[in-house]
Amino acid sequence: MINELLEIEDNVLGEIAKACSIDDLEKIKINSIGRKGALTEILKKLSALPVEERKKIGEKANKLRSEIESGIVDRLKELKSRLTQDRLSSEKIDISGRLAFPFARGHSHPLTETLKDIIITFKGLGFDSASGPELETDWYNFEALNIPRDHPARDSQDTFYIAGSDKLLRTHTSPGQIHVMEKQKPPLKVIIPGRVYRNEATDATHSATFHQVEGLAVDEGITFGDLKGTLTLFLQRMFGSSLKVRFRPSHFQFTEPSAEVDVQCFICKGGGCRVCKSTGWLEMMGCGMVHPNVFKSVNYDFEKYTGFAFGMGVERLTMLKIGLDDMRLLYENNLQFINQF
Ligand code: DAH
Repeated sequence: MINELLEIEDNVLGEIAKACSIDDLEKIKINSIGRKGALTEILKKLSALPVEERKKIGEKANKLRSEIESGIVDRLKELKSRLTQDRLSSEKIDISGRLAFPFARGHSHPLTETLKDIIITFKGLGFDSASGPELETDWYNFEALNIPRDHPARDSQDTFYIAGSDKLLRTHTSPGQIHVMEKQKPPLKVIIPGRVYRNEATDATHSATFHQVEGLAVDEGITFGDLKGTLTLFLQRMFGSSLKVRFRPSHFQFTEPSAEVDVQCFICKGGGCRVCKSTGWLEMMGCGMVHPNVFKSVNYDFEKYTGFAFGMGVERLTMLKIGLDDMRLLYENNLQFINQF
């Protein structure tokens, strides 16, 4: 029996030292000093022993019992404090770099910044700012802008149509020109910023939703020279007074003649690089003299008045300004990206 006791002592005390969890300790306790535990079984058999032996073994067994009990209590304390330590270190938060007050301040999105710059710059050139609806009719988005039904110019401006109505999401801010002219008589100088839509798959340079700024000036005697002067000044105020600007012949249904405005590439200064596709120039916007048919749509006297119009993409300008080659970053609300600006 004494050997059994020695064996229990060895095993149980060893197990207690190795126990890794509160559950482990609970099992050890049950198996040793529980109602049917190994040591309890021995204690139960004591009464059958001769007095001398009962005394000797009883003393030893009781001593072992209290050793096991206190061993379990000590190990339990150790495990608990280790768990607390582990938890504390795994849940540690370094607040030393955080300001309690003032709270971190947000800032406007790069697109909003560009939009603000555009509006302020045109304000300085005497332009008002107006807005038009995003939900348009075929008339405002196309017909009134001299883009008849079945005209191939519609191909590049597929959009989202509202079933069961003649409503569609505007593909450009140009219909804003019509709304302004319906409400106002010349002379007028106005820009119309806003969100536009196209039925387009998203990639690095396309998005089904994007932003444009439209411009329109109408008066007696406005010439292509006014157009060139105004847009050159605008671009130089936005990007620097030494910026080179060129007007390249183009075609738009609502202007005649029409042009594309390019600026010298910011990156290579005209030498040719990846961003400008080795041309040395970056396309900035479309423009032209308002087509007489557009004036007819709003009952303006096209013999008396002339005007110029232009349209630019806010995403495109922003990308060129901050040197970004993937438009999608502008829409992902990724603070690591946004907070650089
Ligand atoms: N609406 C044209 C587009 O989305 C941009 C444009 C070109 C607007 C020439 C104009 C303009 O006012 O004169 O592609």
